[in-house]
Amino acid sequence: MTPFGTIIQLIYLAGAASFVIGLHLMNTPATARQGNFVSGCGMAAAVAATLALIIHDGTVSVTGWIVLCAGALMGAGVGLYSARTIQMTAMPQLVSIFNAVGGGAAALVGIHDYSGLVGAVHGVPESTTITTLLDVIIGAVTFSGSIIAAGKLQGVIPGQPIAFPGSRLVNAAIAVVAVGMSAFLISTANIAGLVVVIIAALAFGVTMVLPIGGADMPVVISLLNAFTGTAVAMAGFVIGNDALIIAGALVGASGGILTKLMADAMNRSLANIIVGGFGTGDSAVSAVAVGGEGVRSISGDDAAIQLAYAARVIIVPGYGLAAAQAQHEVAELAGLLEARGVDVSYAIHPVAGRMPGHMNVLLAEANVPYPQLKEMEEINPEFSRADVALVIGANDVTNPAARRPGTAISGMPILDVDQAKSIIVIKRSMGHGYAGIDNELYTNAKTSMYFADAKTALAELTAAVKVYVG
Ligand code: TAP
Repeated sequence: MTPFGTIIQLIYLAGAASFVIGLHLMNTPATARQGNFVSGCGMAAAVAATLALIIHDGTVSVTGWIVLCAGALMGAGVGLYSARTIQMTAMPQLVSIFNAVGGGAAALVGIHDYSGLVGAVHGVPESTTITTLLDVIIGAVTFSGSIIAAGKLQGVIPGQPIAFPGSRLVNAAIAVVAVGMSAFLISTANIAGLVVVIIAALAFGVTMVLPIGGADMPVVISLLNAFTGTAVAMAGFVIGNDALIIAGALVGASGGILTKLMADAMNRSLANIIVGGFGTGDSAVSAVAVGGEGVRSISGDDAAIQLAYAARVIIVPGYGLAAAQAQHEVAELAGLLEARGVDVSYAIHPVAGRMPGHMNVLLAEANVPYPQLKEMEEINPEFSRADVALVIGANDVTNPAARRPGTAISGMPILDVDQAKSIIVIKRSMGHGYAGIDNELYTNAKTSMYFADAKTALAELTAAVKVYVG
């Protein structure tokens, strides 16, 4: 290897090390920003090294440079703008679109490389064909699947599972076409065959994601994210770029682990999620109505007094808090209570909300101190010592029905909110959460329901705490 080549490889190695260090720093909210920065620096160094390499080799034409620069500028501009302006509640859609472009780009690398090799004097080596086909298939499935997932989350495509009679058979047939044609291409390289594989893979992405309920999309997005990483790693093999292989493998592995963790926290298998039918985001009216038997309502003033005179309050944020964008209001109320000497902490369930880490990110945005955020295992023993558990737009993650067999959420780990001395729940109605079942917590004798939008309710509570107790 030339000294120049050695320097490039060393930069790639440093880049790879920074990806790993960055991922490690992202383990906790306190160092997550640093982790993002370190990984970003590693990626910038790897991109710079690759540019230096192609300048050195002189393999890119003037037109190639124009396309490259225009693409990089457009991509960076759109990425920066969307990341800065996106609402936290729309983050899953954005991640899905990023997955789509990642998978699509990886597939294009494979397609371009393959089309250059077909017709070469010595034919296409088997190993190149296999990695190219894996790159193209996984990339194309990710591209179309992620676009459908983003469409479902955005409401452009209905969120309910969309299936037609025999749809599984059609899926299987498409998969057989893609695999069969790929096997043929390993022995006989040709572009027409590759086009068939691409079309089959794109179709498979669509038919795989359409039957999955909208509320299951975050798990699917995490899975597609792992696919993107795998496709990128394959693209790295195709063009012989180590940085791409390592970065892709890290995304593939971490996306895979995250998918497993999410499925476990929902107590469901990945196969069960992919087959669909559960978690359609159903917000149907509960069998128990507002004002129904066993449901106790509370006014803002009474809730404020309970909170202000408590020694210990545990706040339980859920999807409703995120949907209402009430993170600043909850932080203000908590600050006010703390100033009165109330011990306040937040109970964070691993799947509270609609995407992993949703609550941590939202609360960090409102400058809630990290030490106040407690993971489920840490906070559960604390509920019995809490005077008030304030549940804000959380439903399934607090439902004691999970402890009994035979319910839609049986076995799902939950926050032991019902152990608190008193419970106040803020939500708009007796409507269901994601799992579509009644919450037994709401009819618990210790529970008072404060029916309102989370943002409005928290602003009212804050005002009442100020007025009534100073
Ligand atoms: P959910 O069980 O979905 O309940 C959210 C509740 O928020 C609803 O019952 C709704 O009741 C209320 N709500 C909605 N908008 C509101 C608003 N503006 N103000 C006040 N309340 C509002 O949420 P959760 O307890 O956070 O549980 C999350 C669920 O999502 C779990 O079942 C989990 O398995 C699933 N899930 C999570 C993830 C990840 S990774 N986080 C991924 C996939 C699925 P009203 O309509 O009556 O207000």
